[in-house]
Amino acid sequence: SDTLRVALAGLGTVGAGVIRVLDTNRDLITRRAGRPIEIVAVSARDRHKDRGVDLSRFEWLDDTAGLAALDADVVVELIGGSDGPALSLARTAIGRGKGVVTANKAMLAHHGLELASAAEAAGVPLKFEAAVAGGIPVIKGLREGAAANAIDRVYGILNGTCNFILSKMEAEGRDFADVLAEAQALGFAEADPSFDIDGIDAAHKLSILAALAFGSQPAFADVACHGIREVLAADIAEAAALGYRIRLVGVAEANGGGLFQRVHPHLVPLHHPLAHVAGSTNAVVADGNFVGRLLFQGAGAGEGPTASAVVADLIDIARGEFGPPFAMPAAALEQRPAADSGDR
Ligand code: HSE
Repeated sequence: SDTLRVALAGLGTVGAGVIRVLDTNRDLITRRAGRPIEIVAVSARDRHKDRGVDLSRFEWLDDTAGLAALDADVVVELIGGSDGPALSLARTAIGRGKGVVTANKAMLAHHGLELASAAEAAGVPLKFEAAVAGGIPVIKGLREGAAANAIDRVYGILNGTCNFILSKMEAEGRDFADVLAEAQALGFAEADPSFDIDGIDAAHKLSILAALAFGSQPAFADVACHGIREVLAADIAEAAALGYRIRLVGVAEANGGGLFQRVHPHLVPLHHPLAHVAGSTNAVVADGNFVGRLLFQGAGAGEGPTASAVVADLIDIARGEFGPPFAMPAAALEQRPAADSGDR
């Protein structure tokens, strides 16, 4: 048949969400994709956990590595982690001529160039809309929508956990430690919450946006990164008195031959749209030389939004719409020196 056969690795929040999206919107998705998209096999750590979806119709594999050997067209990698089983699954799947869809920003920030080169050589898709800003179609926006533009600068609020914490601290005058536990209970936090609060998760995402915007090799090591641990309720109150809000912002900017990439708490003036991004929402701003200023805003995490982005990638693949993962051939991505971060 002409069905797109999918093997799914990882059944956390997003994995279960992908099954729910495909079930709920089956007819619509089939019509848009031009053919059925079917999950044929799944793999996760705990087979017996209740995820609220019927798994009995899928082949179950205890070892995710086995998914790459199945008769499937695409492997969806939702295991997470920059290395380990996620990376070996992605490598093996591509090596066996299968497409890969992933939400794994850490893996792409560290190994994006290698994986993109391998996917292009194999002629298979590597797609990652869900890896940056959850449900917001910012990868497609930069890669396709803004493809005709030179982009000078891309920046935004890329971590929902930090934005939630900062918003709460401001609204309720509470201290960082006090709000952190509440943020974690929401289920948006990374497995290691220091990835959120130390800015690492935002830096992973920023390095991917920079690669798309500037044609640079994704290079997490080049992102200067400072999180929100030291932000006090008093800092927020003082900023407010001066007409600013404190937000964790990632900025990537082309600067001569170099690339400036930094994540740190910013004073955002109240007249700027980023000052009005509240709670766990994400927002990305990109300045293109013909399109002007683009603002992408929406849910940066959570089951429905992130699963929606994964399924959008599957629809693209079913349609045969894919090209170089980072908008230009991997061989053309430049190694750009880190520009002096200076004062700005
Ligand atoms: N921990 C991330 C966040 C989840 O808080 O934004 C989405 O990548």
